[in-house]
Amino acid sequence: MNMNRTHNNGELRLENVGQTVELKGWVAKKRNLGALVFIDLRDRYGVTQIIFDESFEERLKEVKNEYILQVKGSVIERSSKNPKMATGDIEVQAKDFQIINTAKLTPMIVADETDALEETRMQYRYLDLRRPMMQENLMTRHKITRSIREYLDNLDFIDIETPYLNRSTPEGARDFLVPSRVHKGEFYALPQSPQLFKQLLMVSGFEKYYQIARCFRDEDLRADRQIEFTQVDVEMSFLSTDRILEIGEGMIAKVMHDVKGIDIELPLRRLTWHEAMEKYGIDKPDTRFGLELVNLNHIVADVDFAVFKNALEAHGHVKGINVVAQAQEFSRKKIDNLTEIAKTYKAKGLAWLKVSEAGVQGPIAKFFTEEQMNTLLTAMNAKENDLLLFVGDPKYEVVCDSLAAIRNYLGKELKLYDPSTFDFLWVVDFPMFEYDDETQRYYAKHHPFTRPKDEDIDKLETDPENCLADAYDIVLNGFELGGGSQRIYEQNLQERAFKALGFTQEQIDSQFGWFVEGLQYGTPPHGGFALGLDRVAMLLCGCDSLRDVIAFPKNTSATCPMSKAPTPVAKAQLDELGIGVNKNESTESK
Ligand code: AMO
Ligand code: AMP
Repeated sequence: MNMNRTHNNGELRLENVGQTVELKGWVAKKRNLGALVFIDLRDRYGVTQIIFDESFEERLKEVKNEYILQVKGSVIERSSKNPKMATGDIEVQAKDFQIINTAKLTPMIVADETDALEETRMQYRYLDLRRPMMQENLMTRHKITRSIREYLDNLDFIDIETPYLNRSTPEGARDFLVPSRVHKGEFYALPQSPQLFKQLLMVSGFEKYYQIARCFRDEDLRADRQIEFTQVDVEMSFLSTDRILEIGEGMIAKVMHDVKGIDIELPLRRLTWHEAMEKYGIDKPDTRFGLELVNLNHIVADVDFAVFKNALEAHGHVKGINVVAQAQEFSRKKIDNLTEIAKTYKAKGLAWLKVSEAGVQGPIAKFFTEEQMNTLLTAMNAKENDLLLFVGDPKYEVVCDSLAAIRNYLGKELKLYDPSTFDFLWVVDFPMFEYDDETQRYYAKHHPFTRPKDEDIDKLETDPENCLADAYDIVLNGFELGGGSQRIYEQNLQERAFKALGFTQEQIDSQFGWFVEGLQYGTPPHGGFALGLDRVAMLLCGCDSLRDVIAFPKNTSATCPMSKAPTPVAKAQLDELGIGVNKNESTESK
C-alpha cells in the first residue's frame, strides 16, 4: 500500500463513487453485522464508513477502537444514506487494510457524547482533544487568530514580542514569580499583560503594535478565568478614542464575518459605565434581554418601610426589577431562592410584591399608602401578574451586584433570550478610581496610566469620586471581552494621577520608576486595548468554560491533571536557587 492517503475522511461524496481510494485514520466505531464489519474511520476532517466483507472477518478480530488503520478500497453508494454525516451518501468497500498502530483501551469514550468527568477529560487531554467537538473548537480559535492577524496587518500594525521575565508591575492581580539562579533572592515576575512594554513601544515610535500575548495572573480560577490566558494586545499612537474604538469593533466585525458568517451592525452601541450600572447593575451587562433595573430612590423616599428608609438615610439606594407576567409562576419557594442569590451578593434581603386583579400583595405592601403604591406601579410600569423585586442598601454596589445577579439568573431561567445571538456593546467612561473601604484609599479602576477624560482632569484633585477615565470595555452577552484606554502621556499629569492615588515618590520610583523615566523622552499621545482571546473563542464556540477552547488548560484548583503540575522539585534545584520551602505552609503533596 501507498504511504500517502488519497483522500481524508471528510471528503468523499457521490461523485467519487467507483474510485479506488486509500484512507488513514482512527477506528471510531466498529460494528459487526453478521459476517460483515463496519468501521467508522476518523481523522480531523471527519468520518468515513468502511465496509469489510467476510474475507476480513478473522483479521479484523484484533482491531479495536482507536487503532490507526490504513485502508484501501473502492467508493460505493450507500443503500441507507446517513444525512447527519458529510460523507453519509457513500461508504468504502475495503479491498485491503493494515494496522498502522494499536491503542490501549482508552479510559474515556472518544466521541462528542462522552460521560467522562471533566477531571478524566483533562487527565487524558490528548484523547479529549481527539473528540470532533474539541477539534472544532480549537480550529475555530485558530480561525479567530488568523482573522485578527489579517485585519491588523492590513491596518499596518506590527507584531512585536515583549518579555515573559519581567519585574513585578502594579496591575492589580497577584504576580507569578520566577526565582533567579544568578541573582539569588531576586525574582522575575511573569507579565499580567504587556501593558508597560507596549506603551514604551509607542515611545520608541512604532505607532501601531500588536501581539497575541500570553498573560499570567495568580488569581482564583473560574469558568471565564484562567491563570494563564491569551490577550490580543493592541496599542497605537496619535489616534482619537473614537478611532481606537472603530479599530477595535472593526476587528470584532471581521472575526464574526470570517468565523461565524455573521455581519454585525457597526458602530456598536455605547453605554456609559453609569448607564450600565443604573440599567443593569453591572459593567458587563447581558443586553440580550430587558428586565432592567429601576431606580426608586425618589419613588420610595417617603415609604414607611425600615429597610428602604435606613438605606436612603445612609445615602444608599433602592432599586427594583419588574419580572413581567411572572407573579403566578413564582411560588414562595422560588422567591426564597432568589433571596438566597441576593444574599450571596451581600444584600440583607429581597423585598417583593405581586400585582393581581385583587390588588398588590407581598410582605411590604402594608407599608405603602395607596398613592405611594400607585406611584411605584407607574414607575415600574407594573401590570397585572407582574412580580416586583426590590433591594435597598446603604451601598450602591450591594444593590447593583445582587439585582444584577438575579437579573442574569432570571434571564437564563425564564429563557428571555436566544442563546445563539451575539449582542456586542462598548461600555465607556469608567470612573478613574475605585475607593477601597478596607484600606481607605483610592485605587485605579483600570491602571495608574489611564488618562482622565479631558474635561475631568481637574477633578483628579477636586472630585476624584466623579472623575471619569477615557477607558472602555467591549462586552458580549454578559462577558467582558476586552478593555483599554487612552494613556497619560504628559509628565505632570502622570504626577497628578499618582498623587491622587496616594503614591509616594518612593513608591513610584521603586514600583515603576523605570517606566516613568521612559515617558520623559518624547511620548506621543497613545492608547489601546486588549481582547481576551480565550473568552472570544469560548463565546463564539458556544461553550460555558474557557477550558473547552484551550488545548491544555488548568482545572479550577489551578493544577494540570495530566502532568500534575505544579509539583515539588528536587532539593538540589531549590538549593541552586537559594530557596527553602516552609513545609508547614505548602499544600499537601499530590
Ligand atoms: P484587562 O486586565 O482588562 O486589561 O484584560 C483584558 C482582557 O483580558 C481578558 N482576561 C482574562 N481572560 C481569561 N482569564 C483571565 N484571568 C483574564 N483576565 C483578563 C479579559 C479582559 O477583558 N493591559 C490592559 C489592556 C489595555 O489597557 O490595553 C489589560 O490587561 O477578556
Ligand atoms: P424583615 O422586616 O427583615 O422581615 O423584612 C421584610 C422583607 O424585606 C423581607 O421580604 C425581606 O427579605 C426584605 N428585606 C430585608 N432586607 C432587605 C433589603 N436590604 N432590601 C430589600 N428587601 C429586604
